[in-house]
Amino acid sequence: MLVIGCDHGGYALKKEILAHLDEKGVEYKDMGCDGESVDYPLIAEKVCNEIVGKNADKGILICGTGIGISIAANKIKGIRAAVCTDAYTAKYTRLHNDSNVLCMGGRVTGGGVAVEMVDIFLETEFEGGRHERRVAQITALEEK
Ligand code: RB5
Repeated sequence: MLVIGCDHGGYALKKEILAHLDEKGVEYKDMGCDGESVDYPLIAEKVCNEIVGKNADKGILICGTGIGISIAANKIKGIRAAVCTDAYTAKYTRLHNDSNVLCMGGRVTGGGVAVEMVDIFLETEFEGGRHERRVAQITALEEK
């Protein structure tokens, strides 16, 4: 299951992404907002709790820049959130970082690039191998 959320800065882009997911028949859970002004850390927490609680395996978070919401998401144990801006970053954060949350900026990224990133993020498997060790080292930082 995919879980998605945004603040007011990401709402317009979220609507474009949801339309794309609906067209493709991809199931998702939308944790808000619905266009009203909200504090992005609260949305990051709601979305990431779904992943940590194993109700979802991947998430998408959108704020104005993608940065604030990614910083908040990365405070949560078990979350590897990546701000992506193009197909390359979306692909390699799955291949090398096993990222479970794709973040983007509604005031930065257009709808065409956004849906391309979403498709790549959902379809690309973690490469494993030497990257397993590095991802394990990231996880170990959560305990320090
Ligand atoms: C909200 O105005 C804006 O600060 C937020 O969407 C985000 O860009 C923060 O990083």
